[in-house]
Amino acid sequence: MSTILPDQLAKYPAISDLRKRAKRRLPLVAWEYLDMGTGDDVAVSRNRTGLDNVTLLPQFLKGEQTQNTETKLFGRTYAFPFGVAPIGLTGLMWPNAEIILAKAAAHYSFPYCLSTAATQTPETIGTVVGNMGWFQLYPPRDEAICDDLLKRARDSGFHTLVVTADVPAASRRERASRAGLRLPPRITPRFVWQAVRRPAWAIATLRHGLPRLRMVEKYVNSEGTLNSASLTNASQFVGERFGGTLSWAYLQRVRDLWNGPIVLKGLLHPNDTEKAIGMGIDGIGVSNHGGRQFDGAPAAIDALPGIMQQVAGRAAIVFDSGMRSGLDVIRALALGADFVLLGRAFMFGVAAFGEQGGAHVAEILLADLKTNMAQLGVTTIEEIKQLHQET
Ligand code: FNR
Repeated sequence: MSTILPDQLAKYPAISDLRKRAKRRLPLVAWEYLDMGTGDDVAVSRNRTGLDNVTLLPQFLKGEQTQNTETKLFGRTYAFPFGVAPIGLTGLMWPNAEIILAKAAAHYSFPYCLSTAATQTPETIGTVVGNMGWFQLYPPRDEAICDDLLKRARDSGFHTLVVTADVPAASRRERASRAGLRLPPRITPRFVWQAVRRPAWAIATLRHGLPRLRMVEKYVNSEGTLNSASLTNASQFVGERFGGTLSWAYLQRVRDLWNGPIVLKGLLHPNDTEKAIGMGIDGIGVSNHGGRQFDGAPAAIDALPGIMQQVAGRAAIVFDSGMRSGLDVIRALALGADFVLLGRAFMFGVAAFGEQGGAHVAEILLADLKTNMAQLGVTTIEEIKQLHQET
């Protein structure tokens, strides 16, 4: 892990600073893929407004206090109550992003969730992530592929499974389409023009090569009809074989296969949580996919209290969508989350500072989390979780 210079942190003290720098360093197509929502990006704004509207009442005169951010989830202890959300096609935004973030997770002891649509394999990431690995499953149509993916994840040391529920179909994501994103990324004159104006990205990408969906390449080759390991075939394969398959029966099968905690990610309706708990799902992932799937979705933070009431402590609540600061993490915990994931914030860091990006984001979140805990007069994550009962 390369160390961050204090000057770098002082000059870029917030995720919004990293976002601005990331935008300057990425070719338009990669930037749009990272930053976009879907439709008119209303759900993205709604996430922000919903979070900004959560205010908390501080209490004072507690004397000198120190803040402890350690958190327990599914019987494991993490240094912070947050981790990295699964991100697909990661290598398009920055080469080796998965390795950079997995290293940061291992270094600080927070979870890193590897996506099925990752550009690295579980075997590679398993060697760097230590015991901080979570694995995200987009459910494949073929049972044999599902079984093999789960086995590979398990054999590589990933202990917590995240099953994504909120992609019943691909969403339109018009910004990426306008910017010229085609899967696989093609070397068109427009793409070259975008890339040469972003030399840091272009040099890093030239060094590592264009991204490949390494996770699923193995199955593309074994298909027979799709016999090359190129991204063309892999992305076509993912589109055809991984979409719209999840049902309660499918989930039950995954539950039976996975010997460890499962988080069902993307729930917004309290009714869905009831079924999930009934079949032994350990974590309810309250999320609107960062506003990337359904522009008519409520802010995820607005759905959280209803879900918390319904779940009533019978499962853990893992929240994501719109988190950009330690204060946001506190807001989600105070409204009922047990743990929080951040997607874009971590990728802004990597796009802004490459190797140092994961650590830079962790330092920002940690400093902001501790400062705001002090402002509120709380010293532990458990005390934050009690706040909703008091307000
Ligand atoms: C995602 N997300 C996502 N989720 C998932 O389950 N599997 C995936 O492969 C991806 N891929 C992905 C790519 C990109 C570029 C983004 C921004 C997001 C959704 C992600 O896990 C998480 O729900 C959101 O990122 C949370 O919102 P914030 O933190 O980005 O605002």
